[in-house]
Amino acid sequence: MKEPKKLNLANLPTPTQKLNFNGCSFLIKRDDYTGTELTGNKIRKLEYLMHEAKRLKADYVFTCGGDQSNHCRATAIAAAQLGIKSRLFLWGKEKKLKDGNLFLNKMFGAETEYFNKQEYKNVLQIMADREKQFTKKNKRVYTFPSGGSSALGIWGYINFIPELLNQINKRSINSILSAAGSGGTAAGMLIGSAINNWNLKIFAVDVFNNKAEMEEMIITVAEECLKKYKINKKLNYKNLEVMDGYSTEGYKNIEPKKLKLIKKLAEENGVLLDPAYTGKAFYAFNENFLAGKKNTKTLFLHTGGLFGVFAKRKKYLGI
Ligand SMILES: Cc1ncc(COP(=O)(O)O)c(C=O)c1O
Repeated sequence: MKEPKKLNLANLPTPTQKLNFNGCSFLIKRDDYTGTELTGNKIRKLEYLMHEAKRLKADYVFTCGGDQSNHCRATAIAAAQLGIKSRLFLWGKEKKLKDGNLFLNKMFGAETEYFNKQEYKNVLQIMADREKQFTKKNKRVYTFPSGGSSALGIWGYINFIPELLNQINKRSINSILSAAGSGGTAAGMLIGSAINNWNLKIFAVDVFNNKAEMEEMIITVAEECLKKYKINKKLNYKNLEVMDGYSTEGYKNIEPKKLKLIKKLAEENGVLLDPAYTGKAFYAFNENFLAGKKNTKTLFLHTGGLFGVFAKRKKYLGI
């Protein structure tokens, strides 16, 4: 196995805590504590991606995502910390008032380009074309995909598994539930559990694609990683369950019943969830693993996304 190098950008290890909600006790891993500006799951992947950007002596990093993308915001901030410029290719309409992650992108000096849904389908080609233009101007560019979910980026979640194993007894959980967008978090955890001989099920709550597409994305990036880094393990995809139907209101929206649950967790446990990912994942977690039970062996992974709440403040307060 050829393990890639990384930078230390995240506050690791993140704590694993025991919570009680709806009469049921469960474990939560606080990847919202990976940093203040850098909160969330993306920085674990960026530790590897930004190491590569440094190694390549990049002047710029290019990446893409929805306008409130946590990955884009984390990229802009990590780049600023390392003296690299960032250019973000965003799906959405540019607004005068920059809120949530958009505010932070601006604050940390990211350059941005906006595309509508149709145009954004070609974002990889758009980034490749722009990279060529920048190269002609003698700017070195390192481009990585949305969510940082490349064979290299997912090492962040391969190494999440030994971190968790240092904190809990292997037998205290049998599964992890996480929100899934680009699929890299789930893919990394599948590989990490295989490497550590841990028969762990991963529940990936799909907030974006349909079930078949999400499964394909997770499996594709996982297999690429096994091949590229010569990881001699066969993955058991029965350990992957993509949970669909928890974002039928659309990636950029959130239903009132989910906001009610977010509010209840905030008031009763002092934990904040975001509208695009963790709020929807926790709704699925509550429905399938907490409601009506005293305890569960499924761990909830809090993947961050907290700045997204500000762009949805009216909805959060309107329920
Ligand atoms: C807060 C948050 N949680 C979960 C995810 C999903 O992670 P992944 O893209 O690795 O599936 C993302 C990004 O997509 C995110 O920003």
